[in-house]
Amino acid sequence: MEKIVVNGGIPLRGEVEIGGAKNAVLALLSATILAKDTCRIDNIPNISDVSIMLHILHQLGANVRRVGKNAVEINTRYFNSGEVPHELTKHFRASYYLLGALFGRFGHARVAMPGGCDFGVRPIDQHIRGFELLGATVTFEENAIISMRTEQVTGGPVYFDVVSVGATINVMLAAVRARGVTIIENAAKEPHVVDLANFLNSMGADIRGAGTDIIKIHGVNDLHGCEYTTIPDQIEAGTYMVAAAATHGEVFVRNVIPKHMESITAKLLECGVMVKEYDDSIFVAAPNRLQRCKIKTMPHPGFPTDMQPQFAALLAAADGTSIISEGIFENRFRYMEQLTHMGADIKVDGKVAIVEGVRFLRGAPVKAYDLRAGAAMVIAGLSAQGVTELTDIDYIDRGYEDIVGKLIPLGADIRRQSISDIRTNVSNIS
Ligand code: UD1
Repeated sequence: MEKIVVNGGIPLRGEVEIGGAKNAVLALLSATILAKDTCRIDNIPNISDVSIMLHILHQLGANVRRVGKNAVEINTRYFNSGEVPHELTKHFRASYYLLGALFGRFGHARVAMPGGCDFGVRPIDQHIRGFELLGATVTFEENAIISMRTEQVTGGPVYFDVVSVGATINVMLAAVRARGVTIIENAAKEPHVVDLANFLNSMGADIRGAGTDIIKIHGVNDLHGCEYTTIPDQIEAGTYMVAAAATHGEVFVRNVIPKHMESITAKLLECGVMVKEYDDSIFVAAPNRLQRCKIKTMPHPGFPTDMQPQFAALLAAADGTSIISEGIFENRFRYMEQLTHMGADIKVDGKVAIVEGVRFLRGAPVKAYDLRAGAAMVIAGLSAQGVTELTDIDYIDRGYEDIVGKLIPLGADIRRQSISDIRTNVSNIS
């Protein structure tokens, strides 16, 4: 067990390299189930969610070979069942992609309901309805296990009542080898939906329209292996951009697709931050005082809900009153209480938070409520005066590759410390 200790108040300066997109790569790794051939995926981030997914694939019979630090070769030829043991997936949100991929390959799948970050109720009714429209008979068993089966996965029209990244990806995975044509309407348009379509197409799939509201999938009989490079992580990049801004620093964020960053860049500009875009990098330079702004999270190309907590950490010490509205998840403000421990003045009313900017935050013992809230507390700690000690950092490791190791070269005074070290220190003192 470790915690992160930050001595804040130092402007970040320098360059940081962004890794592959967590939410894309988890879908890509699941998609390897659909080809009985070797797929090589580059730009894989070293994060615990990826390790869990690779472990699951290995346990199910895949040949998994890490190549260097950031590539992996996977061959799922010897998979022979759509069943995933419950204990492998129960705490892992992206396990739901195994449902779509296994169903797409075998016509049956049996997987436990996903866990993951707790933002309130996270239904998967749209996923299930999508599978049913492709011919699945779905049964809910004990221990939150979902089982589904069909004689023949068959394409058809799938209309989503809500825009869902997970349901869009899952139906793509299920439909790619179906008989006939699937048309997904009201599809999610996130960069990782497009990345998955590109990956599947390079395996021989026929998917058109990803990145728009309507995705058309002509089912093909077989998919072959391929080599593919994952897109850069929009949210990791945004997190470092906000960290640079919140500490009034100057940072080059390398290996990004600036187009994916537009909604985040727009809000930083509103706060008075200078943002310059290059081909595959972004330079961020921030003044000593930042300005208030209004944020409403929405499906892509709107402002991403996964950047909401990081911006709250920045706005907590900006001039004026900022308003943050959460438009995607029902309960994504629980971490605000942690910011108030650091001196932030924030009132939450349902899905709206009113942030009265204070002069500065103060270091404090806080905890990571979930993955992005954890990143927000790191940003708050970097910008605060004094020492912040952040616990429950396993959440951060799920989605950020070596966050401490990337911040130190930017000048941050930050380290990981084992909780047992701390106990030893305390007992030494007493
Ligand atoms: C994915 C991302 C997560 C991100 C989120 C929104 C992964 C592994 N996770 O989560 O990081 O925060 O997109 O960009 O890629 N909904 C339903 N029924 C469903 C599915 C969703 O009502 O069957 C609702 C959800 O409760 C939520 C909204 O739709 O209010 C969007 O959820 P969705 O896009 O599905 O998020 P996830 O795929 O869970």
